[in-house]
Amino acid sequence: MRVTSNKERFDNFVAHSPAFFDDLDADNLDKKHQRIVAQAYAQFEAATGRVGANYRSWGEQSDLTVPAQLSSAYLKAQGFGLGIAKWGYRSLFRRAQDRNLRHVLEDDVALIDELGGGSLIDENPAHLSPGAREFYFLKGRSVSMRFLRYVYLLKRMEIEALLPESGVWVDVGSYYGGLQGLVRKYHPKTSIVMVDFHHQLARAYIYLSQLFEDATHVFPDQVDAGIDLRSLPEGSITYVPAKNFDAIADQKVDLASNFFSFGEMRRPICNGYMDSDIFRKASRTYLANRFVSAPWIEPTYDTDVTVLDYQRQERKVLYFDTLPLHFFLQIKREVLGTSRMRNLSSPYFEMITAPAEM
Ligand SMILES: C[S@@+](CC[C@H](N)C(=O)[O-])C[C@H]1O[C@@H](n2cnc3c(N)ncnc32)[C@H](O)[C@@H]1O
Repeated sequence: MRVTSNKERFDNFVAHSPAFFDDLDADNLDKKHQRIVAQAYAQFEAATGRVGANYRSWGEQSDLTVPAQLSSAYLKAQGFGLGIAKWGYRSLFRRAQDRNLRHVLEDDVALIDELGGGSLIDENPAHLSPGAREFYFLKGRSVSMRFLRYVYLLKRMEIEALLPESGVWVDVGSYYGGLQGLVRKYHPKTSIVMVDFHHQLARAYIYLSQLFEDATHVFPDQVDAGIDLRSLPEGSITYVPAKNFDAIADQKVDLASNFFSFGEMRRPICNGYMDSDIFRKASRTYLANRFVSAPWIEPTYDTDVTVLDYQRQERKVLYFDTLPLHFFLQIKREVLGTSRMRNLSSPYFEMITAPAEM
């Protein structure tokens, strides 16, 4: 039987996930993700009939904000009442933030164009991706902050030739699978492996199974110590719960990546990933994270991880730079007793590595 609604997709995923509701038992979980995982479980328990309507943008997890804009597509996605209310609120109280947000979106689009990825923006209108609720029409192009991030990362992967034909790509912290959806579209033979909490993997399954119903979806109950990532079918999509990472940790893959995620984890968890063969032996790693997760002036995350934690002796750096995406973003918040528009407490780097003896 084909599953169709988001609720059915969610139930199907849970049925194939023996430890779905056990993620809060993990040791060393940072405070942000303790809150998010608890919120997700509460959301699923309270809204069993509606799971998935807001599976991309909910609670503390969102597709990142976009400026106020009235469009029929936005009102349809948000619902008329909520759409008008959000637009009214932002137009009245968020003018400065929205001006900056618009500039950031313009910059992100311009730098993707500069890299030659403009057609990826045009071929993938943000508002048409499944479950999209936050998007913005910028000179006729449909974008969102998070979706532009995924377009940029895909373009960089292509420029640096990180995805060999029929290769295996493992991404830790894959969220709702937005980047995976783009990679699978343009590199249909890549075998995609995602590592995240169960609730995120369920969201990714809801998203990716709508886009690629006929792909082989490998569920958590098929991820055990015997799994061989290299033997998975071409184009398959595998959902590995963070708690089961050990089942794949000693394998060598073509690409291992982590975006905006290791820098939020406590050091033992971050090191657990960085010291696995997945990251130590991969033909390439691609990381984009904060230079400093918790600067003393504003300790944003509950961890002392910094850029110094991401390099290993047996690997050489092929590419290292400031991540230009969202670079000039300003968020209004209080620091040292005053509330005003401020840059993030740390910029982000991007780094691509290969084994040193290559
Ligand atoms: C800020 S989001 C970034 C998502 C995505 N990589 C992106 O760039 O849009 C962090 C992601 O890391 C995941 N995450 C946090 N702690 C994790 C852990 N210990 N193991 C695996 N994933 C984790 C979160 O659930 C979330 O999907």
